[in-house]
Amino acid sequence: MRQIICGLLIFFVTIGFSACAPKQKKVVDPGSERIYRITVSDRFGRISSEFWTIDKLEKLGVKTIFSSYFDRAMKYDDAEFKVVSLLKIISQFELKSGEDAILLNCFDDYQGILPISDALKYDLQLATKIELGFGSSKPDWLNPLLVVVSDGKEPPFAERFLTANIRELKFVRLSDYYGPLRKIAKDSKEASQGFEVYKNNCLFCHSLKGRGGNKGARLLQVYEFAKETGQQKFLNNFKNSHHKDNADKQNVEQFVTRDQLQRVMDFLLALKRSEEKKS
Ligand code: HEC
Repeated sequence: MRQIICGLLIFFVTIGFSACAPKQKKVVDPGSERIYRITVSDRFGRISSEFWTIDKLEKLGVKTIFSSYFDRAMKYDDAEFKVVSLLKIISQFELKSGEDAILLNCFDDYQGILPISDALKYDLQLATKIELGFGSSKPDWLNPLLVVVSDGKEPPFAERFLTANIRELKFVRLSDYYGPLRKIAKDSKEASQGFEVYKNNCLFCHSLKGRGGNKGARLLQVYEFAKETGQQKFLNNFKNSHHKDNADKQNVEQFVTRDQLQRVMDFLLALKRSEEKKS
């Protein structure tokens, strides 16, 4: 009898396990060898960098979390992250030059930037490991370190809370970073609204005046924003590169409305005119 019960038990346990066994997952783990740079400046503006490994970061304390914010933007189901609190990392450094933001330089020429106030307000996390559900396709750029919004936090839905592939965290001042662009944005209400859209969704890949990343084309050089045809070409090409099913999962279209794109063009035109005035 005992043997039968035992046998049954083993039978059910086996069935149970195979029924619920997780299907194979895709794990993105850069391993412990990768080196990340954290850069600060001293009171005199002299810059120095520390080198951090995943092990060193994880010694600050790790958690496993999900992010419905990330799943929504990427159209994934239950991606799972091993994360370290960004605030915990920030607290390891003494900021002596009024730094109020972290510039995020990435392996793929993406350049993110996060105000420290955002890290505080939304308790942002940095993933050291990413686990995608079975069958999810992973774009090349989706590697740690990755900014992650935890469940329960609701920042505005924008590209800027999804920076991946980070190689360097650099403490900077927002006023220095955006200064030259903001000055031009003051030209008109439209340009200033366009600047906000651009800095939250585009600058990371389409650099302007030496700020931002270079994954995408230099838009100012490519389009004639003063002309109707130039604007139409911009809108069409934007759609082609950034619609929701694009191969590289760069669905930027989900973050901006048609009106906001119009404001972006107003801003880029203002920038172009100011450059022409100077030359
Ligand atoms: C994650 C990086 C990334 C972000 C963010 C991004 N882009 Fe792009 N964009 C690209 C890449 C890569 C291409 C394709 C390569 C290229 O630029 O031709 C592209 C292409 C484009 C094109 C077509 C360029 C051409 O000549 O074919 C336009 C227009 C464009 N992006 C506008 C925008 C605007 C406006 C935003 C913000 C609302 C934005 N992009 C945000 C990376 C990005």
